[in-house]
Amino acid sequence: MDSIEHVSDNNGSSKWFDINVLRYAVPNSANSFGYVLGSLLLFSFLVMGITGALLGLFYTPNPQLANQSVTEITNNVFMRYIRGVHIWTAEIIPVLIFLHIIRITLTGSYKGKRQINWFLGIILLLTTFTLIFTGSVLKWDQAGFEALAHFEEIGKIFAPLGGILFTSELTVTAPLLSRIYLFHVSILPMVLILLIGAHVTVIKLVGISSLPKEEKIWRQESQISFLDHIKAVTLYSISFFVAISVLSLFFPAVSRPAPIVGTEVSRPDWIFLPWYPLENIWGVMAIVIFPSIITFLLFIIPLIDREENRNPRKGRQRIAVAIVLFIPLMILVLNILSGVLKPAQHL
Ligand code: HEM
Repeated sequence: MDSIEHVSDNNGSSKWFDINVLRYAVPNSANSFGYVLGSLLLFSFLVMGITGALLGLFYTPNPQLANQSVTEITNNVFMRYIRGVHIWTAEIIPVLIFLHIIRITLTGSYKGKRQINWFLGIILLLTTFTLIFTGSVLKWDQAGFEALAHFEEIGKIFAPLGGILFTSELTVTAPLLSRIYLFHVSILPMVLILLIGAHVTVIKLVGISSLPKEEKIWRQESQISFLDHIKAVTLYSISFFVAISVLSLFFPAVSRPAPIVGTEVSRPDWIFLPWYPLENIWGVMAIVIFPSIITFLLFIIPLIDREENRNPRKGRQRIAVAIVLFIPLMILVLNILSGVLKPAQHL
């Protein structure tokens, strides 16, 4: 079994970890960019955890002091860098997720036993976006405040189904902001860790998919050792961290003024911007309907394509590829539309 175990070396002396357990064979393609995206996501969550813990030392989830604590963080050179890394990584995570999904769809790696990881991945996607959303509220500027006001409206509509948890009506002893903080730093990360644990366990059990051999469009591949894969992932992760650091230094985190209650003037961050024009049609329910459409589209992919053959240009996999490319295109079009629309009152 490939695990860390108590083993004896040739001299009979014992050691706790034998590096050879990592020398098992994996497909050569595991080291290509498309196949390290999942590992880059893992690394990104590690970066989010460490930088988030540092930010938590200075942040207060009290509505009267939250904005001021963000300003204090941003005024400190080192903490501004840490906040920058946290924010930039959060901006890049959705991009990595969509690239990861595109790669999996192109190589047909959602088929057969890997279906389970596809469905786990969808829950991971929803948890990640909820984490990003709760984080965007915590900065407690006008945009964060308005995002929470929209969220609370949804909570009220779904109050009997548990939405009450996300409204101020639950209790007067804990402000909604502190509950959002609880979700952001504790409940959601725990859910995420469990889901990632399950996702990685399935990969270990089923093995990473190799490139579809039967098709000429893929190159023939050999095998490499998992240890070499770890080395490649480490190099990609270091390069990723350097790029994030450069972005954080050249485009540093900024703090904006505290929110003014009762006004609705800001547009959401780009990740949530597609909701914005849709709110003109569906009202705040756009916040539920739009992610539900995306989730549904992703959910049906392994259900409509049950063919064993893996070729993005043939059969039902073509439909899967079309769906997966349609989603970012739809997000892009809605983002552009949001840019040209005049700010509107949705609450
Ligand atoms: C959000 C956090 C996620 C993390 C940390 C993560 C992590 C990983 C890792 C490390 C791998 C193995 C290496 C690779 O293929 O890149 C992997 C594979 C896989 N992931 Fe994810 N993933 C995430 C999201 C998703 C999503 C949203 C989906 C699909 C909806 C998904 C579906 C899969 C599938 C089907 C595989 C197997 C691919 C294969 O064997 O070729 N994952 N993931």
